[in-house]
Amino acid sequence: MATWSAPGKVFLFGEHAVVFGKPGIAMAIKPRVYVTVRRSRNPARVNSPYIEGCFEETGVTGSVYIHSQLPSSSGLGSSAAVTVATLSAINDEFGLGLGRSDIASIAYKIEKKAQRGRASPTDTFVSTYGGLVLIKDGKRRRLPPENFNLVIGNTLVSHKTSELVAMVGEFRMSNPLVVDPILDAIEAVTLRSMHNFHDLKLLGRYMDVNHALLEALGVGHPALSKLVSASRAAGAYGAKMTGAGGGGCMIALCPKRSKSKVAGAIEAADGKAIITTIDTDGARKEDEYGRTDYLKTRR
Ligand code: MEV
Repeated sequence: MATWSAPGKVFLFGEHAVVFGKPGIAMAIKPRVYVTVRRSRNPARVNSPYIEGCFEETGVTGSVYIHSQLPSSSGLGSSAAVTVATLSAINDEFGLGLGRSDIASIAYKIEKKAQRGRASPTDTFVSTYGGLVLIKDGKRRRLPPENFNLVIGNTLVSHKTSELVAMVGEFRMSNPLVVDPILDAIEAVTLRSMHNFHDLKLLGRYMDVNHALLEALGVGHPALSKLVSASRAAGAYGAKMTGAGGGGCMIALCPKRSKSKVAGAIEAADGKAIITTIDTDGARKEDEYGRTDYLKTRR
């Protein structure tokens, strides 16, 4: 039996623009998905295309038990975390010898198939490696970790990433003169933010700008605006939607002392708050009680 876990993710800057080759910054976050795999002759009977994909890709059979701290379909990368944790547990239980880069690329392939062609390579990369990740020129690399105090606000409004990505694509095709400058401005904000991780007030301001630019792309939602405004009024340095928008989640960058107040404001505005920070581990082995087994975790 092998238990592995993998974290969720948020986009700090640059979502949607990355689809058009612009840079972005994503971060692994503390809530995780825990998956236990046990070798068994009888194939697991699951109705998840992600879990099925993991067994199909590796050609083994086993039973699986999942415990998730991440809300699903909310833009926090829960399907990537399930896929990465399941593959890692299968790899361990069956001694397949896959490394992290294999896990990240097979997980992406599985996500792509399960989501009928469109998936985010960022989600599976961030969940596998953890930490702060820069997406640039179509590649992903880890940046030195930063201990940002974040509060996530889940609107509980469901959204479809593929539809929102397609909608922005169509808007760009029909209105390049309007949309290209918005994407350029998102790029500028992302690149400037990278040089200002130490200046939390400025970083918060950049989040506010990025939020406005995403709204200009048409992926805003009244429930997101409500949580973003509530967070700012409660003392956040800045706040923005994170991920595809149209519902899903927002993030607020907060002074340490204001985290609870911001979380309270999000809840009072009908959102579900998660106080969190960076997760630097990525996929990791747990013992059978769900405790981290650092000695056996291979990077
Ligand atoms: C979704 O979490 C982020 C998007 O930029 C899509 C992607 O990066 O694949 C909207």
